[in-house]
Amino acid sequence: MKRFVTFEGIDGSGKSTISKGVYEKLKKEGYDAILTFEPTDTELGKIVKKCIEENYDPVVTTFAFIADRIQHVGEIKKWVKDNKIVLCDRYADSTYAYQAVQLEDIIENPIKWLKELHDRFIIKPELTFLCVLDVDKALGRIKNREKLVSFERKEFLEKVQKNYLHLASLERERFVMIDASKSVNKIVDECMVKILER
Ligand code: TYD
Repeated sequence: MKRFVTFEGIDGSGKSTISKGVYEKLKKEGYDAILTFEPTDTELGKIVKKCIEENYDPVVTTFAFIADRIQHVGEIKKWVKDNKIVLCDRYADSTYAYQAVQLEDIIENPIKWLKELHDRFIIKPELTFLCVLDVDKALGRIKNREKLVSFERKEFLEKVQKNYLHLASLERERFVMIDASKSVNKIVDECMVKILER
């Protein structure tokens, strides 16, 4: 069974619905699971949200995401040690995929830079579900949200998705690709099998 599992994908890909569905099913089946997310709802997470909503400098935004994560990892480590199954809606791969787009004109090879910057302070997920959905469809799903942030634009998300696919190609063992156009129930069942297999 996997102890630390992350859910990734572009905005509107459905990862929050899927992670919640998996969490509920695990609990129903008697497993001790925790569902957590990033940006967190702590003071650091609030700063992150401000960075996004008010279009702060990309480097500042990057450090805010990383600070929020490093603090969060302390909690995640405790839950894993207590033998819980920890499900996390967004984690380090979000930073590699999103901030690499924000930093593309500022830093050479941003994914490499981002990994060097914070990999030593975090723990690696055992399994990462990458929810893949056509960008137009994903944007269609979130168009009724009250506030769309600057990340939720077609060109930006196309690049983010490309980064995610690249990251998945580097670590085929850890990443499981999810066709997010399928029904939530089907996807949840697929995730359950992967999490519970030895
Ligand atoms: P999230 O809370 O998942 O979005 P939503 O409010 O739609 O549920 O994440 C907020 C935004 O932050 C989203 O556009 C993805 C982005 N993000 C990054 O750019 N880097 C990161 O490291 C993380 C965790 C999120």
